[in-house]
Amino acid sequence: MAEPASLERPEGAAADWTVPQDWPHYTAEEHATWDCLFERQAKLLPARAAPQFLAGIDVLRLSKPGIPDFDELSERLMQATGWQVVAVPGLVPDDVFFDHLANRRFVAGNFIRRPEQLDYLQEPDVFHDIFGHVPLLAHPVFADYMQAYGKGGQRAQGLGSIANLARLYWYTVEFGLVRSGQGLRLYGAGIVSSHSESVFALSDPSPNRIGFDLQRVMRTRYRIDDFQQTYFVIDDFEDLLDKTLHTDFLPLYRELADAPDIEPDAIVKGDVVLSQGTQLRSRS
Ligand code: PHE
Ligand code: FE
Repeated sequence: MAEPASLERPEGAAADWTVPQDWPHYTAEEHATWDCLFERQAKLLPARAAPQFLAGIDVLRLSKPGIPDFDELSERLMQATGWQVVAVPGLVPDDVFFDHLANRRFVAGNFIRRPEQLDYLQEPDVFHDIFGHVPLLAHPVFADYMQAYGKGGQRAQGLGSIANLARLYWYTVEFGLVRSGQGLRLYGAGIVSSHSESVFALSDPSPNRIGFDLQRVMRTRYRIDDFQQTYFVIDDFEDLLDKTLHTDFLPLYRELADAPDIEPDAIVKGDVVLSQGTQLRSRS
């Protein structure tokens, strides 16, 4: 995800913050870390992830061992939906992030976590960015949503409303759940790239699971250091695109500027509560 505009562009990065992925530089140990993370999720996700996410893994041949080569991946992705993956050294400023998305380029960190960080790290690495985010970019509707989000980000920046819009990204792209014929399924990249949260988000009695509502989501604060206390559930990707693309956010931002924030664990009037959490469990 994007971060403060005060970040400094690392030496060697282009004006748009991209760097060559330099695929040959990965060590055997780094490829093995990817394989280990992949294997763990491959066991968990068939019964838990959205079918569109699982289809993306197949279309993009992500089960091929080792850290994916971004050029090869971009070729497949380009054929499916016209998206590309570009490498960056780490977090990038908001405006850079939005510009890439608006032009159907997904920025991915090119480093991988160390073996002792298999279960948790603060900064998005290549496993989170590629395994977590890229499969759904092969889905035409989700691909359009991500581009629309980039354009919406550029607009929100001019209006001083990034903080509200960022919550939409957080509770959909990163931590979203979706209904399916087989019950709730995962699609958020932050969940599907996490071994423990892949189980927690669907099966633990602790978090709330609430029907998606645009304004409600944009008022809700979120936690970056623990499992989510609330997950929002969309009906399907078409509905998500419909509710965001065809809504003018300007009047929403105005209303939100005066509305109090909602706490991450709160249930409020008007919520469609699918499960009310006990809020007893956290990561630690
Ligand atoms: N429709 C939004 C606006 O008017 C843009 C947007 C689309 C934002 C999709 C997020 C997701 O700003
Ligand atoms: Fe992410």
